[in-house]
Amino acid sequence: MLALEAVYAGYGGSTVLRGVDLAVPDGSLVALLGANGAGKTTLLRVAAGALHPTSGRLTLDGEDVSRLAPNALVSRGVCPIPEGRGIFPNLTVRENLSLQALDGNDKQALERAVSAFPRLGERLSQMAGTMSGGEQQMLALARTYVQSPRIVLLDEVSMGLAPKVVDEIFEFLDLLRRQGAAMLLVEQYVTRALEVADFVYLLNRGEIAFAGEPSELKDTDVFSQYVGADLGH
Ligand SMILES: Nc1ncnc2c1ncn2[C@@H]1O[C@H](COP(=O)(O)OP(=O)(O)OP(=O)(O)O)[C@@H](O)[C@H]1O
Ligand SMILES: [Mg+2]
Repeated sequence: MLALEAVYAGYGGSTVLRGVDLAVPDGSLVALLGANGAGKTTLLRVAAGALHPTSGRLTLDGEDVSRLAPNALVSRGVCPIPEGRGIFPNLTVRENLSLQALDGNDKQALERAVSAFPRLGERLSQMAGTMSGGEQQMLALARTYVQSPRIVLLDEVSMGLAPKVVDEIFEFLDLLRRQGAAMLLVEQYVTRALEVADFVYLLNRGEIAFAGEPSELKDTDVFSQYVGADLGH
């Protein structure tokens, strides 16, 4: 289990997260909701080791990993898919996939990625940055299939994509989950996220305003208060 315990974190002198407690149990899908600027991306950066808490801790199976570098967390099975995708636009699809292979097993990485997203297989020599938004997101997500991580951190992976591609991405998340990966999901399609989530956290100005099961959230007014009109998605 990955957990944030009483985490404070921010940038320079400004504090963004204020005493955040959040847990991602093994194999579970946890949705993180909140308005723009609430601190969702900041929370995912803490979970990935890209930003260290100023107080509180990040733990993995109870062990304090707050001071570990992102790469050390990757090798322990924590796999971030950052906002903006985290691929190399000036490298080909093939080169991107071989960089995703942690153990240097390029061939296997390529085979697995293409089995999950056949469209990537048709574009191995194409510069990643010239692919469509949906294809780029598939390339970014292929990492999670290649590395078989324990916990995947997903920051608005459906952002700006056509509905059909969003469907494909949610199908892929379901596949990942059936393989046993846990997920912490930040998603603009709130209703969809709630449909697939085991637990949901609502972040309001850097503080957790709600934590519980999706069904409980529907009975409260915190949802409309902090997430607003997004329910229509
Ligand atoms: N690198 C940075 N330096 C300084 N301030 C930052 C930095 N990144 C984010 N912030 C600030 O931290 C706060 C939280 O930002 P964050 O990106 O975590 O929000 P978010 O919930 O992901 O929002 P969105 O839904 O718009 O993606 C915002 O006020 C933002 O301006
Ligand atoms: Mg964000």
